[in-house]
Amino acid sequence: MISLSRRSILKAAAALGGATLLSRPSLADGSLPILRAAPSSAQLAPAGYPSTPVWAYATEGAGTVPGPEIRLRAGERIRHRLINDLPQPTAVHWHGIRIENAMDGAAPLTQAPVPPGETFDYDFVAPDPGTYWYHSHNRSTEQVARGLAGVLIVEDRELWLGEPGAATRELVLVLDDWLLDSDARIVEDRWDDLHAASHGGRMGNTVTVNGAAYPELDIQPGERVRLRIINAATDRIMSLSLPHLSARLIALDGYPVMPRGTDTLVLGPAQRADIVIDGRMDGETRASLLLDPGNGEWVEIAGFIHSGDTLPSRGADVRPLPAWGTLPMPDLSGPQRETLLMEGGAMRGMREARFDGKTMGFRELAANGMVWAFNGAANDMNEPMFRAAIGRTVHMELTNSSMFPHAIHLHGHHFTVLSKSGTANMEGDVRDTVLIGADETVEIAFVADNPGAWMIHCHMLSHQKSGMMAWFEVT
Ligand code: C2O
Ligand code: CU
Repeated sequence: MISLSRRSILKAAAALGGATLLSRPSLADGSLPILRAAPSSAQLAPAGYPSTPVWAYATEGAGTVPGPEIRLRAGERIRHRLINDLPQPTAVHWHGIRIENAMDGAAPLTQAPVPPGETFDYDFVAPDPGTYWYHSHNRSTEQVARGLAGVLIVEDRELWLGEPGAATRELVLVLDDWLLDSDARIVEDRWDDLHAASHGGRMGNTVTVNGAAYPELDIQPGERVRLRIINAATDRIMSLSLPHLSARLIALDGYPVMPRGTDTLVLGPAQRADIVIDGRMDGETRASLLLDPGNGEWVEIAGFIHSGDTLPSRGADVRPLPAWGTLPMPDLSGPQRETLLMEGGAMRGMREARFDGKTMGFRELAANGMVWAFNGAANDMNEPMFRAAIGRTVHMELTNSSMFPHAIHLHGHHFTVLSKSGTANMEGDVRDTVLIGADETVEIAFVADNPGAWMIHCHMLSHQKSGMMAWFEVT
């Protein structure tokens, strides 16, 4: 019905010359959907604990953690008017979207942060299908830790769900990590904790799945479900496992991979994975999403409770997702070569680095809140790290000479992982955020096809704040 009437509108517009169809929708008419950032509360800790005051996004009513799911088809526009009802300036970044630069939300590089009481209109095309998220990109160490993150799903162009070998249902799982006190309040006096920043970052004590502690999720025996898993934590790397569910990976950071079995899945902050699971058919009624909190002891963070009729098996093979078909592939026959050297942090440190136009020793850097450096500079936002001409293939060697892993994120582009020492089965994956272990080197390549000023930073937000942030320019 809707598509029919839309088609007749299109026909009518074509008859009138069609030009009006292409004009930008008016932003002044007040009809833009709202995305409000405001204080709210959420029951993060298990039942029996008080609810937690958070900062959260809402499209209507009170804000939720995670923020409301925004869902559209690849190639469609996202249009939202951010209303800032927070006590601080803010901006929204649409993580992983190959977006128009002015809409990237990377304050203060691509827009000024939006002051309390003011608004900003986001209006852009999401070109590629996949699992994405949006989050605050101003004072993000604090604002994301307080809850400002939500789900952004760009649906496949071609039907996948329900097709032979595909899943019949999908479920978004947002994983988060919270540092709560014994009254379930967010610990607020440690935003500048340099000790945490020089180690693995701000580590929480409560892991939630879709904003709840230890939720129980329903599944039918034999049911094939597509999980869209998002690590929205500020700093925690999530090692995950889904035993007894025949877990197969089908996409990383939104980009399809050939379906492959996955025993352990490691998601750095901001990374996503789409996983297909099959409900157990062995008569057992429970299965678990397990997390290794870092000591090798797997704990259940969500349960899958089996009930209902056993569904017929959908077969051993999983149908691959439709290809993007929109990403230019790097030409490696003469790329522009760039390097990114990561230094600093506890147990290794750095002798000196440039900060704010001056070369400083370790102590002076720390006095300025800087404990990390990219290519010998801490949070140098005055000059781009490099410039690339539009259409040029950039090859980057990312070397981590610190004792901690880092999750390096490039804005505005997806890149191919060409090599990754020490980790099997990662080459050829296309991502927007790559995890690089201590003393590891990763080579990536991408076509710099998106004009503008793009951030490159560690997505451990404590590291980003304390030195691991820079930008590159595509002109
Ligand atoms: Cu997910 Cu610069 O961000
Ligand atoms: Cu880092």
